[in-house]
Amino acid sequence: MRKLDVFDTTLRDGEQSAGVNLHLSEKVEIALQLERFGVDIMEAGFPASSPGDFKAVQEIAKRVKHSSVTGLARSIQSDIDKAWEALRDGAYPRLHVFIATSPIHMEYKLRKTPDQVVETAVECVKYARTRFPVVQWSAEDATRSDWDFLVRIIKQVIDAGATIINLPDTVGYTTPSEYARLFQYVRDHVPNIDRVKLSAHCHDDLGMAVANTLAAIQAGVDQIEGTINGIGERAGNTALEEVLVALAIRKDTYGCETRVQLEETSFTSKLVAKLTGMAVPANKAVVGNNAFAHESGIHQDGVLKHALTYEIIRPEMVGLKSNRMVLGKHSGRHAFKEKCDDLNLVLTDAQFNRLFDAFKALTETKKEVTDDDILALMAESSIEDVKYELEFLHVSYGMNETTAAIGIRHPNGDVIREAATGGGSVEAIFNTVERVIGTPMELIDYRLQSTTGGEDSLAEVYVKVAYHNRVVTGRGVHGDVLSASAKAFLDAINRVLIKERVDDGQIESIRAQG
Ligand code: KIV
Ligand code: ZN
Repeated sequence: MRKLDVFDTTLRDGEQSAGVNLHLSEKVEIALQLERFGVDIMEAGFPASSPGDFKAVQEIAKRVKHSSVTGLARSIQSDIDKAWEALRDGAYPRLHVFIATSPIHMEYKLRKTPDQVVETAVECVKYARTRFPVVQWSAEDATRSDWDFLVRIIKQVIDAGATIINLPDTVGYTTPSEYARLFQYVRDHVPNIDRVKLSAHCHDDLGMAVANTLAAIQAGVDQIEGTINGIGERAGNTALEEVLVALAIRKDTYGCETRVQLEETSFTSKLVAKLTGMAVPANKAVVGNNAFAHESGIHQDGVLKHALTYEIIRPEMVGLKSNRMVLGKHSGRHAFKEKCDDLNLVLTDAQFNRLFDAFKALTETKKEVTDDDILALMAESSIEDVKYELEFLHVSYGMNETTAAIGIRHPNGDVIREAATGGGSVEAIFNTVERVIGTPMELIDYRLQSTTGGEDSLAEVYVKVAYHNRVVTGRGVHGDVLSASAKAFLDAINRVLIKERVDDGQIESIRAQG
């Protein structure tokens, strides 16, 4: 069987999704799960883009031992230096350097001639190889580039020392047969192509990212790139879990294997969805809530008689199991710790204590606490150094005007009390929070979901707000929808404030997990 390398870019291309802004400890949590998932390479960020990204890449490179950690760099020497500084202590450091090769990008974005682009690419790869043992070079917008120009530049960057050549479909423009032909063309025309690995990287603008990636595999690429749940800018990237399950189910067609542990799929997907706030559509292949739900009578009857009648993927294959050990009111610290270990949660003592307190509070209102509940609480308790915390909330509902009174606690212990009105309860809460922070913010999106079924389910609220010129997603979890909403607004504000402090260098190193 042919061995394929799996390159995950959830923390770089995925994190570029509008409104996603992960905190350092959340990035580390995802990175450690990706390592357990078994990805060969993870792109942890873009070190030169911000101090926050730099610290995250550095921390992940230090912590991850069984996957190669990489970081993105533009074709600029200072970007490569920053990436080296961030990655040098990693187990298998590698660089991902890119430059655009399509006529439209070269002329309007780079304002360089094709010859200048070749020269820059070659110089940067040569420079990168003075530091990194492995250098991946990407031709941004490859699928709208001239194929003979690609042949020319690829030959030269290979001579300069590139070890992996990636041909991204940056704007999600290509089709499966065209993408396969592009790889074949490059293989047939670049004389030194045997010295490198070829990689496919697709975006989903036309809904073909997974199909294009599978076509590239059939055209012989050695590496595939993508993100968990397909998150990413615009329509997102290739959903890695879909490609990986397709490879497993259709081994007969693809004849490839990877190092990935498929039974970690479901948990990895849930973790990414919770921490990024990017919900997985119910009907999404492999990881959607309905992916294994059989609704029609004929299907149910068939599955009961023989699962394979309508179920081509066994739920256990992707790690879907009913919540096994359910915790409750009488579960103590020890049982809770075991459950966290079982879920592979990596927590500092402070995070564990906060999570345990949240769990205990939940057992007052919820009889059975499931794995999904704990994951939802964990997503909420992961951030340290928060500025605003919800102390109390009263909402007085009126048909045309609702009043909210809120108490918000500062780290110094002071509780700020405010009240405001709004057309509805959420608006009243939003207006009150805005009054407390004293700066306008804009609500772009508001989403409510329940963690599990049942009337005692936790409410999870995700909000997207614009605040201090940033768009961030905040989330709040509570047994009550309105408290969850207030917490979500405060979470968004805290995230912006923490990001600002990190980027200003005021927080030297936010503690990742010990
Ligand atoms: O889609 C793209 O072109 C990218 C590059 C930076 C590789 O993500
Ligand atoms: Zn991309």
